[in-house]
Amino acid sequence: MTEIAERLEELREGGLYRRLRLISGPQGPRVLLDGRQVLLLCSNNYLGLADHPRVRGAAAEAAMRWGAGAGASRLISGNMAPHRRLEERLAEFKGYEAALLFGSGYLANTGAIAALARRGEVVFSDQLNHASIIDGCRLSHAETFVYRHGDVEHLAWGLREAAGRGSLIVTDGVFSMDGDIAPLEELLRLARRHGCRLMVDEAHATGALGPGGRGSVAAAGLSEEVDILVGTLGKAFGSYGAYVCASRELVDYLVNTARSFIFSTAPPPPAAAAALAALELLESHPHRVERLQSNAATLRAALAREGLSAGSSETHIVPVGIGDAAATMELSERALERGVFAQGIRPPTVPEGTSRLRFTVMATHRAGELERAAKLVGAAAREIGLAPAAAPTSEPLVLAA
Ligand SMILES: Cc1ncc(COP(=O)(O)O)c(C=O)c1O
Repeated sequence: MTEIAERLEELREGGLYRRLRLISGPQGPRVLLDGRQVLLLCSNNYLGLADHPRVRGAAAEAAMRWGAGAGASRLISGNMAPHRRLEERLAEFKGYEAALLFGSGYLANTGAIAALARRGEVVFSDQLNHASIIDGCRLSHAETFVYRHGDVEHLAWGLREAAGRGSLIVTDGVFSMDGDIAPLEELLRLARRHGCRLMVDEAHATGALGPGGRGSVAAAGLSEEVDILVGTLGKAFGSYGAYVCASRELVDYLVNTARSFIFSTAPPPPAAAAALAALELLESHPHRVERLQSNAATLRAALAREGLSAGSSETHIVPVGIGDAAATMELSERALERGVFAQGIRPPTVPEGTSRLRFTVMATHRAGELERAAKLVGAAAREIGLAPAAAPTSEPLVLAA
């Protein structure tokens, strides 16, 4: 056995082995998975825009007009009109002076944090922040203080201990694995009191929360007060890429110092054009956001009726806590057998002992199919002792195609 094979075996034994699944066709509420139709409950295509004809059309048109790729980084020869236009529209949408596109949310977080938090300084990061934020903290030469999830008292203690060395507080707006919302007002108050910047990652909040889907910062009435706002184009905007909103001065600083911006090819023009079309659709059809929110409430309530709690989730990210990684994957497989595709989430994505079946809802799901899916997952969970027993039902054993 090779050393790599041994490492893979170790992952299998710990219930942590991962494999790729193949989806045929576009990302809709129902997809063909390995040749079978299933209800898709683990996509970030929250508003159903990835497969919207206007978004697809904008990408196709941009490919013909501008080409498939940008050919270089923005600072060399890759800065093109679709980038500039999208940045202006995103800044306006989010209520900021300026925006800067990055290749992805991972690159935006790693690049911005490493550029802002310097050697000798301290960056404060919520315990449940996304991996790209964690990696940004690691890449920066600053010390990282990880405060307990959402615990502003713990953060305040850390800030006092840092004695003026604090440079950045960073948090997810909507937490990617729990679906709860950061205490933004308190974070901002602490940031101001201790002379730190506040950075909020709106990857899962944009298109889902706040007026017209403007996100958690806008929902809290803090646009432009939060110093750095990160958003992605690969989730509610149905495309690929990401952006940072901030003051013009700070954006200029990132252009000059964020390594993941400087040393990476500019986003493909079709991706930028698709995101712009999605933004325009969101602005003209804001009811998609309400539909997403009401679908999320429907699924949370239906799961609760099955004795499956979504914990502290207040959003379209609906995690059902299981604990053990192997049991989580077992439930995920049994749900899939019944036509419900939800993702089992294990370490290192979440802390040891907190594995969960994570559902993400789309605006394009029908309420009835979400209710049926919850029943099927409840039945699967009861089969393996993960949900309280319930009266037998005459519901179908698989989701009707
Ligand atoms: C909170 C958060 N930030 C950033 C990212 C990374 O974004 P991208 O997929 O564009 O790299 C994700 C992606 O899952 C995320 O959940």
